[in-house]
Amino acid sequence: MNNIDNDGSVVALVPAAGRGVRLGASAPKAFVAVGGTPMVRLAVDGLIASGAVDRIIVMVPAEMVESAVALLTPATDSAGDMVQVVVGGAERTDSVRAGIAAAPDASYFLVHDAARALTPPRLIAEVADELRAGHAAVVPALPVVDTIKSVDALGIVTGTPDRSGLRAIQTPQGFAADLLRTAYAADVQATDDAGLVELLGTQVHTIPGDAQAFKITTQLDLMLAETLLTRLSSGYATIARTS
Ligand code: CTP
Ligand code: MG
Repeated sequence: MNNIDNDGSVVALVPAAGRGVRLGASAPKAFVAVGGTPMVRLAVDGLIASGAVDRIIVMVPAEMVESAVALLTPATDSAGDMVQVVVGGAERTDSVRAGIAAAPDASYFLVHDAARALTPPRLIAEVADELRAGHAAVVPALPVVDTIKSVDALGIVTGTPDRSGLRAIQTPQGFAADLLRTAYAADVQATDDAGLVELLGTQVHTIPGDAQAFKITTQLDLMLAETLLTRLSSGYATIARTS
């Protein structure tokens, strides 16, 4: 347990500076539309709808800053002043590091991929609740449905870990802000933020994830996201803007 700062501000960092190579669209992935709305806008709307964040910092490719500001901070939108756009980096780790630097005021960070555009606001609020309850690092986790095997460089199977002890990890990942700052102080790369915190020897707490928080990576994922947005109940449709 860490020192609890119940009044501390929660800053969401939204990595949206990837190229989306596996999706293969003409625009950077976070700016590809799902149901008519760019993923990054859906992700930001989900964070706002959670009611759990005070401020949102979105990291985008340098050439997308202007369009991201127009998309995320319109003068007519009351939520606009909550959202700030900064330039990301070459790797996801570099983008998160840029977001951390832009939020010296944060007491807690929620790091949430733009590519998890349909994450239910309820899951975001649950991660924030666990942080405020005193857990220094919190991640949503789902049981693994496939059998996972390790292989060597030739593709020969070297082992089959017990599936019951494995979890697929989602975002938002929540951290006491000083813990994440320390984790990122080292010059290291990782595919998720909790991985860096684990290197410090800090316990990472899991909560049940949600299938709807899946990461849109390939064209198949994009088709699934489009279908979900069309079929989701009217309650969820409040964050699914169409213009
Ligand atoms: N991301 C980022 N900066 C990078 C790389 C990734 O902010 N240099 C973000 C992506 O925009 C995405 C999230 O991190 O919201 C998760 O990354 P991923 O799903 O791998 O997205 P991409 O890197 O864009 O996709 P790909 O790996 O297929 O190129
Ligand atoms: Mg990537």
